[in-house]
Amino acid sequence: MKNYFKIAHWGLVASFLWAAAGSLAHYEEIRWDWATIDTQQLSFPSNFLWGVGVSEYQISGAKNCPDSNWATWEKKQKTHLSGNACDSWNKRDQMVDCVQQIGAKSLRLSLEWSIIEPVEGEFDNTAIEHYKDLCGTLLAQGITPVLTLHHFTHPEWFEKKQAFEKRENTFYFVRFCTTMFKALGDKVHMWCTINEPTVYMLQGYMRGVYPPGKCNMGLAGKVLKNLLDAHVQVYKKIKQLPHGDAAQIGIVHNVLQFHPYDKNGRLENMICKVMNNIMNDSVINFFKKGKFKFRIPLLANLAEKNIDAIDSLDFIGLNYYSHVLLQYNGTWSNFIAEGYRDCDIKTDMPYPVYAEGMYDAIERVSVLNTPIYITENGIADKNDDRRELFINRYMYALSQAIADGYDVRGYFYWSLFDNFEWDMGYTQKFGLYDFNFDTHTPTLRPGAAAFSAVVKKFSA
Ligand code: BGC
Repeated sequence: MKNYFKIAHWGLVASFLWAAAGSLAHYEEIRWDWATIDTQQLSFPSNFLWGVGVSEYQISGAKNCPDSNWATWEKKQKTHLSGNACDSWNKRDQMVDCVQQIGAKSLRLSLEWSIIEPVEGEFDNTAIEHYKDLCGTLLAQGITPVLTLHHFTHPEWFEKKQAFEKRENTFYFVRFCTTMFKALGDKVHMWCTINEPTVYMLQGYMRGVYPPGKCNMGLAGKVLKNLLDAHVQVYKKIKQLPHGDAAQIGIVHNVLQFHPYDKNGRLENMICKVMNNIMNDSVINFFKKGKFKFRIPLLANLAEKNIDAIDSLDFIGLNYYSHVLLQYNGTWSNFIAEGYRDCDIKTDMPYPVYAEGMYDAIERVSVLNTPIYITENGIADKNDDRRELFINRYMYALSQAIADGYDVRGYFYWSLFDNFEWDMGYTQKFGLYDFNFDTHTPTLRPGAAAFSAVVKKFSA
């Protein structure tokens, strides 16, 4: 997140003019007094779905996904090279054993489109069989597979067609999704269409740190709209297929709250308002009202309708990590997105442990009136000296939300293994397992015990 405001400070400064009268009441920073909270006071329903998450590219790397946009991007950038990561494409059993050892009842994984359709229109049956076998193995072990159809990566041929920048390209994504549903719909009942459309947009079209590395606010809005529309189309198409009725289809949204470091700072407040609108409200309102609004003063102004969006979620996947505490250091070009309060415990990513934010995020997506699954939550913690505390606090926040009546049905820890953390390479250690990328061996981290204990205690 470092300094991502530098990329377009002139645009964000413009937001000052626009938002002058705005209020942030609906994005207040909540704080709990953790010293007075007993995080062991937990309660979860017996049918709660406990899982762990991975995505194919992050655990299999460019070597196993050579036809993807990310493999091309890595070659061009030369900063972080994924190699074959955990080589999970070839070490399926290792992954399944590790899920078992944690005691998790579900694995969220992504289908790598670039392996399945490396050349436009040519589907690789061996790759499809690979996923059929993997899902079969998981089911045989009592582990429910949850499949993500797009987790930041896609074939390079699709990127060359300008991917989701062009509305008409949705056709290719829908074709891929329906092909996979036809192949796996009898085995897999829970499907996530797109992982974090706003993060894909922010990183690829605003910060330019993910492919295609652009910085164009108007295009960013368009890409976000096209991704959301693509979800709606996939939802409708899959529902018409055999097993479609019974399938649970949702999208995965990352709630990232922007809070001003100085609560009275007008400029910070105004920028936070713009960011909350484009990163959170845009998606929630799209599904709630069938209206898409994306506005960055002077740079982007989109307002479109898609009434079909209102009935296009069987659940909402919520990814939650933390918030951004935005600090203004007195110069036009320097907004620091890495503010911390004195009480904060830092993670290795540029944000703190902020479990009360997960409660707030659950509340936010609950307006969609659809079941909620926490599809990602975890900590980058190389020394494994904060993981236990992180798990305890976030579990507590989750348990509180359920006790308060929010319809949360499952939780997936991110991630099973340390993996390729996109533009940050292998520097970030999210894994319940410490992964040795030379020997390809996973070692369970002591901090993972806190998660296993909860899962085992509350599993039926
Ligand atoms: C993404 C993951 C990523 C995780 C941790 C999420 O935004 O879906 O791919 O590894 O955050 O940063």
